[in-house]
Amino acid sequence: MEKQHQFFTTPIYYVNAKPHLGHAYTSIAADVATRYKRMDNLDTYFLTGTDEHGDKIVQAAEKENTSPKAYADRISRLFKDLLPLLHIENDQFIRTTDTDHIKVVQAILTKIHDSGDIYFSSYEGIYCFGCERFYQERELVDGKCPDHGVEPQVIKESNYFFKMSKYQDWLIDHIKSNPDFIRPEQYKNEILSFLKEPLEDLCISRPKSRLTWGITLPFDQDYVTYVWFDALVNYISALGYPDKNKFKKFWPSTRHFVAKDIIKPHGIYWPIMLKAAGLPIYDGLNVHGFWNIKGSKMSKSIGNVTDPIEVTQEFGVDQFRYFLMREMVFGLDANFTEDVIVSRINSDLANDLGNLVSRVLSMNHRYFNGKVMGAATLVEYSLETDAVKAIDAFKGAMEICQFHKGLASTWTFISAMNKYIDTHEPWSLAKDESKESTLGTVLYNLMEGLRVVSCLIYPVMPETSRKIQLALGLDLPARGFFKLDQILPWGQIKKDVCLDKPEILFPRIEIKNQVPTQTKNAAIKREKPFKPPLKEEITFDDFSKIDLRTGTILSAEKIEKSNKLLKLMVDLGPETRQVIAGIGKNYAPDDLIGKQVIVVANLKEARIMGETSQGMILAATHKKKLILSGFDKEFSPGNPVK
Ligand code: ME8
Ligand code: MG
Repeated sequence: MEKQHQFFTTPIYYVNAKPHLGHAYTSIAADVATRYKRMDNLDTYFLTGTDEHGDKIVQAAEKENTSPKAYADRISRLFKDLLPLLHIENDQFIRTTDTDHIKVVQAILTKIHDSGDIYFSSYEGIYCFGCERFYQERELVDGKCPDHGVEPQVIKESNYFFKMSKYQDWLIDHIKSNPDFIRPEQYKNEILSFLKEPLEDLCISRPKSRLTWGITLPFDQDYVTYVWFDALVNYISALGYPDKNKFKKFWPSTRHFVAKDIIKPHGIYWPIMLKAAGLPIYDGLNVHGFWNIKGSKMSKSIGNVTDPIEVTQEFGVDQFRYFLMREMVFGLDANFTEDVIVSRINSDLANDLGNLVSRVLSMNHRYFNGKVMGAATLVEYSLETDAVKAIDAFKGAMEICQFHKGLASTWTFISAMNKYIDTHEPWSLAKDESKESTLGTVLYNLMEGLRVVSCLIYPVMPETSRKIQLALGLDLPARGFFKLDQILPWGQIKKDVCLDKPEILFPRIEIKNQVPTQTKNAAIKREKPFKPPLKEEITFDDFSKIDLRTGTILSAEKIEKSNKLLKLMVDLGPETRQVIAGIGKNYAPDDLIGKQVIVVANLKEARIMGETSQGMILAATHKKKLILSGFDKEFSPGNPVK
């Protein structure tokens, strides 16, 4: 079968200010969709770029006392350089000042002009300079532009017009007969409801007396092209319209990604322009909502913007990509606050995914010295069933850009794996030599589950995906990802290879404004011969405020520059905690793995030597030595201690 093609685009962004989180979102969403389609074995092409003509750019350049071109060069570079920082793998970056693009805009204008769909007329209307377009009274909110909140100005001039009205019925019919043309549904309805009113012809020129920074009309040297008529054409000029093979290959399967601010140009002008030029209509439009800050749209004109570079530097690229894709329901608005991103990272990434990886690999290390025992016969298939479900749910969601659902279904599978550990109690199996092969099977299934997870997170978190795959000893495919049809069958991890101890995938983010609870004084007091007086009497209620739990130590390592502090990962059943404990003089890290201890689980999080400590483990002092509390029988972690 011939390979199918898929072309994805982002809007080409105006270069009137540097990129913010909103731009990063659309580009990352399109990158995620592209990576997914590549996993689905499609030949993909991914285009992004910058929109550089028009009043806005001239004004922004004037403010900087520079020419529009020099200004556009500078800002365009910021957009271009942002892409690799966000791990976006675009195939092309287009600029509307590229000569090839300019030629194509002029060719399309000539074609439509020749066919009689462009006419010259004088016009008086209300014009928003921010939007660079004429408005109709009924579109205004309280007499103001709904986007910019300013009153449009009355302008009268002679201009060229594009006969959009002629194609209104055709467009309504096209939208209705192609249910996926505009997605999600609410935006399709918005366009259809707009099309209930008579469509006005579009003014597609600006007199050079008013604006020179644009593409000259091929049929009248005194005018430049309206910026939207210029910008939309980028989607075909980039592919080398009309002759290049790229255009023939990719244009028929095009999906544009945009936010809801620009559905009109994309849902109305653009299909009609294509129709009038005798070109095939693009396949579809994926429309998402706005990232808001404190209830208003993040926007360069308001100035309430978040710099995506700062966010990735603070939290990490995969963490940022995950947050954007998980937090926003594609199509609806979402709120950006630092609290939400921190909580997503700590709970979904550090606690759920990161700990699962470290739990499984630590156990494999502890019980089999890291060697994959594998299972000659897979006696336990329940995880495979869950994996199949997760893969199906993932595909269904990714096909329609419901990225948050794709991730949520993967996280359901992660919970199933945690439950699987609790049901099979590897630590109990390890006690009984006759159960060694069952233990091997259980761990093998868990590693297989991690392999599936590593494939499913690839589009959103390519780097983490690769890290997990390397940790599992997999040979990475040449292009760095496994295709959808390579995820199954179950049982691909090689037996008998030796796996390293796990690295921490996602360090927990410290929640700001929390003070360490262990003060220096308390530590110093303990240096004295240690027979402290009994403390003041407390009530049962006082005692019951302390949440004591059983925990199993999964990993332990020395903290550099300290001779007694160890960093422990402690399994508390539903979650794993990082605990910094001062037992390094008495215990070697390796001796601690698998030990059951008592943890003060509701101790306020603290920072110790730059590390987060989420709890405390109990120990007694005897002849200046610390002895860990423990139990005379082994059981699963997370039980209350009374
Ligand atoms: O409109 N939330 O460029 P633009 C989500 N040049 N996405 C946002 C956003 C927010 N708060 N703010 C911006 C233009 N975006 C034209 C496009 S295409 C032929 C020409 C993203 O710089 C979102 O993708 O104003 C939105 O549609 C786009 O940036 C607008 O970018
Ligand atoms: Mg805008």
